[in-house]
Amino acid sequence: MISVQNLSFSYGGHIVFDDISLLVNDNQKVGLVGPNGAGKSTLLGLISQNQQTDIGRVQVVGSIASVPQEIKHDPALDNSSSIRAYLDPEHEHYDFEVTKFLKGLELSRLNLTDSAKLLSGGQKTRLAIIRALLAEPDILILDEPTNYLDTKGKKWVMDFISTYQKSIIIVSHDLSLLDHSIDKILFINAHTKKIEEYKGTYAQFLKLREEKINLTKKQHKASAAHIQSMQEGLRMGTQSVKQRIQLQKRIEREKEKLPELPREAAGLKNIRLPEPTRGGQIPLSVNHISKSYGDNKILDNVNFYLERGEKLALIGKNGAGKSTLVKILVGLESPDSGEVVRDVNLKLGYYSQEHEVFDFAETVIKTIQNACHLNDGHIRSILGKFMFSEQKIYQTVGTLSGGEKTRLAIALLVLQDYNLLVLDEPTTYLDVLSQRIILEALKEYKGAMIIVSHTEEFIKELAPSRVLLLPENRIDHWHDEYLAKVGEV
Ligand SMILES: Nc1ncnc2c1ncn2[C@@H]1O[C@H](COP(=O)(O)OP(=O)(O)OP(=O)(O)O)[C@@H](O)[C@H]1O
Ligand SMILES: [Mg+2]
Repeated sequence: MISVQNLSFSYGGHIVFDDISLLVNDNQKVGLVGPNGAGKSTLLGLISQNQQTDIGRVQVVGSIASVPQEIKHDPALDNSSSIRAYLDPEHEHYDFEVTKFLKGLELSRLNLTDSAKLLSGGQKTRLAIIRALLAEPDILILDEPTNYLDTKGKKWVMDFISTYQKSIIIVSHDLSLLDHSIDKILFINAHTKKIEEYKGTYAQFLKLREEKINLTKKQHKASAAHIQSMQEGLRMGTQSVKQRIQLQKRIEREKEKLPELPREAAGLKNIRLPEPTRGGQIPLSVNHISKSYGDNKILDNVNFYLERGEKLALIGKNGAGKSTLVKILVGLESPDSGEVVRDVNLKLGYYSQEHEVFDFAETVIKTIQNACHLNDGHIRSILGKFMFSEQKIYQTVGTLSGGEKTRLAIALLVLQDYNLLVLDEPTTYLDVLSQRIILEALKEYKGAMIIVSHTEEFIKELAPSRVLLLPENRIDHWHDEYLAKVGEV
């Protein structure tokens, strides 16, 4: 059971919660939603008692296991002798049980006896989820658990949630995840800094919230009309002085009671990617590339080229080598054999869902200043478009919310006239509205693009001209039949 009473919380001058209360009962399954930066991860942090509250009371009864949104360094993981020791520290499970979870979260290629230290952020995050699930706590807290999973992995997580016999709080921008076996939705209203509670699943929440907004609008309209008619009466001037004073008072009272109109959610403004700098006909070609890690051959004689302005989708299940290929393309890894030939005028912009290119200790504004030589006014206006307020631009990158980091990474792409974008899951962490805006900007982009995404809708709308399938290592013109492969394993 979790009970939060009259809690207020802020980071410096930035208020996140203003006097909120909530209750999660035993065996209840709760979806926590709200736009990027609303405070979802903050609330989960407060509940898992990692952070101190300013005012208010957080009470938790029962054991709790919490997996944060992103894991780069987890001391428990870094200090474990093996993956197995990390996942099941008390050795309470058989190997086959542990293996079943690894398979569910698409990590079956990992060796239980290996060390977990050198794994990628996405792999570490998934291992942390498995560790929490194996611990079977009374309260399981998951912050966007499906970010690094494809459709099959998401389905596995969904099934797990629906059969789990204890309480769960789950944050997700993947709304289908919150449409099954969810008892209630807690919505963080970023304007009022309050929590609104809705019974039922996400779909029911959307309906109830819309009804609530419509009702408020109706009440507002009726009261405003009443006020207006009283004001007109006053203008006619037919009343006595006393009546006029009374009427004036009534108008003031009604005005005070006027329900506040719900404000539209603040979202990214429409973005336009700049015209790409002119380059050669073939911005990049990949000649017979192979790459192995130990005995594991990841890429076997990959061979393709890209034409100017062409969009190429990279499709394959987790572990098929997409990220390895992407890292070779952008020069972060080198192939064992073969070469990448880059056009002399190639300007390549790279987006990675793990944000490994950021210096987390740097401020938002300094990050942009370091990357491009633009004047401060221009930088500030772009940052404003990406919803970084004057106060936020001095925040360090490490303290930004997941969605805010993605927004910053995309701002960096927009500030430069790249002619090839290599995008590895560019919508991770983004709320639904922001995903849409990024998609529209990418659709309009005139440069070449190599894109990795597990979101069918996204690939469909981007309409790539060709596709590279891994691990089959086959290149083909795009057909809609490939859509089925986007989300599957
Ligand atoms: N240490 C910190 N110092 C200053 N501000 C912070 C700090 N940590 C978080 N914030 C700010 O508090 C707000 C809430 O952050 P939080 O991570 O809880 O959002 P969220 O709802 O989880 O967002 P997302 O959907 O993007 O993950 C954000 O604006 C964030 O920048
Ligand atoms: Mg978050």
